[in-house]
Amino acid sequence: MIRRFFSSTTEIPEPPPVPRHVAIIMDGNGRWAKKRLMPRVAGHAQGVERVRDVIKACVERGVEYLTLFAFSSENWRRPPDEVNRLMELFVMALEREVKKLHKNGVRLKIIGDLSRFDDHLRNLIAKGEELTADNTKLTLTVAANYGGRWDIMQAVNAWRTAHPRSHEITEAALAEHLAMAYAPEPDLFIRTGGEKRISNFLLWQLAYTELFFTDTLWPDFDAAALDAAIESYQHRERRFGRTSEQLVQS
Ligand code: IPE
Ligand code: IPE
Ligand code: MG
Repeated sequence: MIRRFFSSTTEIPEPPPVPRHVAIIMDGNGRWAKKRLMPRVAGHAQGVERVRDVIKACVERGVEYLTLFAFSSENWRRPPDEVNRLMELFVMALEREVKKLHKNGVRLKIIGDLSRFDDHLRNLIAKGEELTADNTKLTLTVAANYGGRWDIMQAVNAWRTAHPRSHEITEAALAEHLAMAYAPEPDLFIRTGGEKRISNFLLWQLAYTELFFTDTLWPDFDAAALDAAIESYQHRERRFGRTSEQLVQS
């Protein structure tokens, strides 16, 4: 079932005081480890720990959707050892955490091109999604082998397959086929680790998302850091193309 959400470009959404959807690029694991003279993969392991805290903090604050960028379609370019270790950590996290997520009412979704993952990992993903499908407290989406361009292209292709005789695609029709069609557009985007770029994350969905960049490295990101991002969001004026004066009037 696809629920229909506001589109920031074809309608004017009512911005929620607490971001309904938070999307995070969890960056800086490697530098965190390097500062401690540890191997990069130690930073990734520490990063997994922070994921647990941030999920909990989001539930407590009433965030309904949390989307985490775990592995980009370009991260295959890293040294094979690091890629392997990241896959192992993903498998371990699924094996250990899915039951706990389920107990806490979290619905798990994985977005990305799963065809490059091995059978065991794909199976864990399918089982985790199935077990948690009816949970409503928080929807946790993990973007793995995800790229914003991949998403738009797979949506175009899926639409074409569904409508072989149509020629013109609309925004709304395309949006229905995006990997995260089940979620509203993110209200708040956070990137840790100091870089100020999108790195091929949610290109379509971030059209009117408020962007927050912090130098904090992901393994140091805690509930207080999340609160700082939410507080910054709460001071933004979300105009969606209108003037300040128009906002005051409405
Ligand atoms: C983010 O941390 C995790 C992944 C991309 C999987 P990095 O590994 O990119 O950490 P830095 O940017 O090198 O510090
Ligand atoms: C983005 O981080 C991807 C994830 C956090 C999963 P990167 O570290 O891969 O991004 P770039 O290469 O610095 O842009
Ligand atoms: Mg990085």
